[in-house]
Amino acid sequence: MSAAIAAHGLTRSFHEFTAVDHIDLDVQPGQFFGFLGPNGAGKSTTIKMLTGLLAPSAGQISILGHDLFANPVEVKRHIGVVPEGMALFGKLTASEYLHFVGQMYGLDKRTTAQRSDELLEFMGLANESKKLLADYSHGMGKKLALAAAVIHGPKVLFLDEPFEGVDAVAAVTLKNMLQGMIARGATIFLTSHVLEIVERLCTHIAIIDRGHIVANGALEELRAGVQARLHPDAATPAGETLTLEQIFLNIVGKDHPLANASQEGELAWLS
Ligand SMILES: Nc1ncnc2c1ncn2[C@@H]1O[C@H](COP(=O)(O)OP(=O)(O)OP(=O)(O)O)[C@@H](O)[C@H]1O
Ligand SMILES: [Mg+2]
Repeated sequence: MSAAIAAHGLTRSFHEFTAVDHIDLDVQPGQFFGFLGPNGAGKSTTIKMLTGLLAPSAGQISILGHDLFANPVEVKRHIGVVPEGMALFGKLTASEYLHFVGQMYGLDKRTTAQRSDELLEFMGLANESKKLLADYSHGMGKKLALAAAVIHGPKVLFLDEPFEGVDAVAAVTLKNMLQGMIARGATIFLTSHVLEIVERLCTHIAIIDRGHIVANGALEELRAGVQARLHPDAATPAGETLTLEQIFLNIVGKDHPLANASQEGELAWLS
């Protein structure tokens, strides 16, 4: 079976600076994949390349066995994406926007109308469906972008910080929706700084740091690797289970400037 997402040697430079440096990713169908990394590590740049929104400087990408560059339209039929900083059309209402997106994906009018209504209801936006998107709050816009990303029933969903700005009730609804999609065989690739949520949802994790993949595997493999590094000679103390936050800090936190800042003296002028 083809990988849901396969990227090899994926690279993107901005002038002299290489934001993503020859990374390889293999995500199997049905995986809930968390793509983690510190600010500026290259996550959003990678998601934009994987979804055809940004041209790579080098590398290959295939989605469900289709080469992204040879078959971009075929790939886009099967994927949904909420990229970072997505702009919505301010002069449309939520309902008009979902109809527009549904029809772009080739859904007939009846199916589009039915799914739009269902998604607006699900996202708690049913009472806001006639409001112009220019007047939407940040979180409302995010929920609508998520609705638009799934209206065509994508097999592979890419989400850049889906929980950012979304209220606690909507976050629970969203988590249930994503788990439902996984249960029905979809593949989800998401970035998030909310590690408790990633730990609960994702079965596989890759960590990117300054453009390089520094960890990649099943969550349990990453945990075992860090535990073995922390206790090289002895068995892991009974009852110790590292959280994803501890695993993450262990892998990328050590030479982070904030990790080494002494508590006293730093920003001492702040009262
Ligand atoms: N269009 C651009 N021009 C120049 N540099 C860019 C551009 N886009 C991204 N970068 C740089 O590439 C690096 C990676 O950025 P990216 O947005 O992928 O990070 P990220 O991992 O998504 O971070 P965050 O967690 O803050 O969202 C950063 O140093 C960023 O400044
Ligand atoms: Mg980002």
